[in-house]
Amino acid sequence: MKEKRVILSVENITKRFLGTVALNKVSMELRENEILAVIGENGAGKSTLMKILSGIYSSKEYEGNIYVNNKLCQFRNPHDSENAGIAMIYQELNLELDLTVAENILLGRYPRTKLGFVDWKKMRKMAKEVLERLHANIDVNATVRSLSPSMQQLVCIARALLRNPKILILDEPTSVLTENETKVFMNLLHEMKEQGISCIYISHKLDEVFQLCDRVIVLRDGQLICEYEKKHGYDSKSIINSMIGRRLDVMYPQIEKKEDDTELLRIENFRVPHTSAYGKSIIKDVSFSIKKGEILGLAGLVGSGRSELVNAIFGLLPKTSGRIYMEGREAKINNPEDAIKLGIGLLTEDRKKNGYVWSMSIEHNMTLAILRELRKGIFIDSKKEQEIAKEYFTKLNVKAPGIKTLITSLSGGNQQKVILARWLMTKLKLLILDEPTRGIDVGTKAEIYKLMVDLSKSGISILMISSELPELLAMCDRFIVLGKGVVQAELERGEANEVNIMQAASNT
Ligand SMILES: Nc1ncnc2c1ncn2[C@@H]1O[C@H](COP(=O)(O)OP(=O)(O)OP(=O)(O)O)[C@@H](O)[C@H]1O
Ligand SMILES: [Mg+2]
Repeated sequence: MKEKRVILSVENITKRFLGTVALNKVSMELRENEILAVIGENGAGKSTLMKILSGIYSSKEYEGNIYVNNKLCQFRNPHDSENAGIAMIYQELNLELDLTVAENILLGRYPRTKLGFVDWKKMRKMAKEVLERLHANIDVNATVRSLSPSMQQLVCIARALLRNPKILILDEPTSVLTENETKVFMNLLHEMKEQGISCIYISHKLDEVFQLCDRVIVLRDGQLICEYEKKHGYDSKSIINSMIGRRLDVMYPQIEKKEDDTELLRIENFRVPHTSAYGKSIIKDVSFSIKKGEILGLAGLVGSGRSELVNAIFGLLPKTSGRIYMEGREAKINNPEDAIKLGIGLLTEDRKKNGYVWSMSIEHNMTLAILRELRKGIFIDSKKEQEIAKEYFTKLNVKAPGIKTLITSLSGGNQQKVILARWLMTKLKLLILDEPTRGIDVGTKAEIYKLMVDLSKSGISILMISSELPELLAMCDRFIVLGKGVVQAELERGEANEVNIMQAASNT
């Protein structure tokens, strides 16, 4: 078989940030009609490489060369890269939330009438057409804020497609998608490949990568470590080992049967309003309890109200009705502060909105929730603060020069680790984790699972939401399945499997 033509090649790219070499002499190529995966641990340099390809970092800001169709390209800005046929979907979706779908898709390139006014009609038509190519049934007049994350993702892709790219770069595009949406999305990428668009695909979901991608390259600490081809078969163990540079023996720790039957928290008859549909309830009537030290899994399809329910328990969203009992006594939770006082912590799904203090260091972001315990008179015991921050910095393998580094300069996955550490270090009674491993690399996932088990052994209860069923099944003692606003099923570990959970979730 003839080798496919190379359409993009990168030679000896080195990119430095203050104190870090993010990319160290990386060379790679992308071929015609190919989906190429770039994988690696959090902070390995994946996003940085893609930002170079998409012109976010200009050619003056790195060493090395980029060739598109054998032509040397020196991008000064994203516009130059676009003109060379490269489009990028960023790890953090960059939409104007208060503009409509059509406006977002055509942002910066509104069609004009002869008189120079914006041609709204044409704009809607163009937006509709490109969404149809994606088989996306989205109202072009809706404001982007009202869309689900997966629909927002499709809007980003539509925007990229409108520029007729030859090369599409996707940085963790499925981290916000459900399993079904992911399937549809992967079909779409296949279709685009058939239409002559090559993709560079970044993801921490290796199953997806192996299924979708023709070739995989692995980055570690800014260096290209190795390359695998689908036609030779993927060996996931050896790929994982080359990613993390050590052997990973067990992914999931042993979960022992819990002896303590004491109830920690019980919620009764929770009713929670829809956040966007006025007058409707997303949670209609939900009651359940959690025992001390138990890891309870909250399963359900996206849109089943899992996040809304835990946000309402935590006092982040209002509830229409419902009672909470903590250790047998009725508790009033009207805001997150009330919840924290009772010993409840929540790692929200949307860490960007509710998580970071951007102007602070890793250390201070981590210790934000335990400042009270660190108080020594009127001061903060900064020695102790540093010790604790360092401990979790190491435990979670945060990639950064040190704990004083500003959180803004971290890679996506490493920012998440910092927020996770914030809750892990608090002496809570109940920790609610909403998609705790989203965007996190395999090696660190294993660390997080181990930490969860340690917490539960020390008597802390955990309520876990995850869209990745294998992870949920492996980690939880018991499962509550939500659907249509009520509890559809309650299953014990051992009795639950992917099939009966999905059946209960879709109520079939
Ligand atoms: N603006 C910046 N200033 C300083 N350092 C940075 C900046 N952007 C990235 N880095 C550093 O460069 C390295 C590579 O980061 P990058 O975002 O490329 O990682 P990544 O492979 O995309 O990780 P993730 O899987 O977590 O998204 C990291 O050590 C990161 O801290
Ligand atoms: Mg990244």
